[in-house]
Amino acid sequence: MALLDIQDLAVRFQTNDGTVSAVNGVTFKVYEGDTLAIVGESGSGKSQTAFAAIGLLARNGHATGSVKWDGQEILNLPEAKLNKIRSSEIAMIFQDPMTSLNPFMKVSDQMEEVLTLHRGMSRKQARAECVRMLDAVRIPDAAARITMYPHEFSGGMRQRIMIAMSLLCRPRLLIADEPTTALDVTVQAQIMDLLRDIKDEFNTAMILITHDLGIVAGACERTMVMYGGRIMERGPTSEIFASPTHPYTRGLLDAVPRLDRKEDVLPTIPGEPPDMLRGFGGCPFQPRCPLADDLCKTQPPALERISDVRVRACHRSPEEVA
Ligand SMILES: Nc1ncnc2c1ncn2[C@@H]1O[C@H](COP(=O)(O)OP(=O)(O)O)[C@@H](O)[C@H]1O
Ligand SMILES: [Mg+2]
Repeated sequence: MALLDIQDLAVRFQTNDGTVSAVNGVTFKVYEGDTLAIVGESGSGKSQTAFAAIGLLARNGHATGSVKWDGQEILNLPEAKLNKIRSSEIAMIFQDPMTSLNPFMKVSDQMEEVLTLHRGMSRKQARAECVRMLDAVRIPDAAARITMYPHEFSGGMRQRIMIAMSLLCRPRLLIADEPTTALDVTVQAQIMDLLRDIKDEFNTAMILITHDLGIVAGACERTMVMYGGRIMERGPTSEIFASPTHPYTRGLLDAVPRLDRKEDVLPTIPGEPPDMLRGFGGCPFQPRCPLADDLCKTQPPALERISDVRVRACHRSPEEVA
């Protein structure tokens, strides 16, 4: 059975300018120990998919569809029940660790609180466990530095602390939303290594949300590409890289810097991301798609299965895209 089973998820926001359709018909599963990357440009609906699943939508948002956690429907559950799941089974980390770390509390106090409050440990037990976790995320000299304040650490170290903190309750699923976006490239690579090791050591399933297809290879077994709130394609990461079946994926791949290509300017996908307020009759990527025709303008392509492990939503055939 899937750990997380999302069916036909839709998210709408009411705004003064009208209804924003941020997520549409999104369906996917995450299994025990699984790693899934959700990739797409900014505004594709990646974060709202995750937020809706774990009940963290903004007040003007509403989600429909189904989200099953461990077989049980959790979409739009009462806050108290969702809180329980979020504090013990699903952990989420964000781009900026300071949104979750309290700047006025020592790292030791905020970490230990998680264990004394939620797992009933004594202060002494909690300290030992927190130091162990900081060691696991490779904070040097953790036993001494645990009593420092968040601002005394670098950005990369703070992200490590966040990861350690999110692991304290031994979550079965870790959702990392652009965890390395604010960091420089070297530190980015270190954090990605760390996430990989953690997955191996704790067998935590992971959803990695990123706009950067470049960091996904090697980090996640499977990749789901989103655009305009919809799934464009999904499959094993190696297959997505070797043989993309969607023009949008191809565009993203072309924009990933490569060592074997010398170029002054990276190609980007021409055109603007869609206006989610206006909505679209056809495929959201159609205005920017080099292969679009009239059908693409009027009819949204359905998500079709092309193998045991791959789905895509495109009116053009995989051969035409290749
Ligand atoms: N509270 C909100 N009210 C209105 N629109 C929102 C709100 N939150 C997000 N959106 C819109 O939803 C769309 C998807 O956002 P998001 O999932 O955050 O994108 P990303 O793929 O960058 O994570 C965007 O167009 C965004 O502007
Ligand atoms: Mg986001």
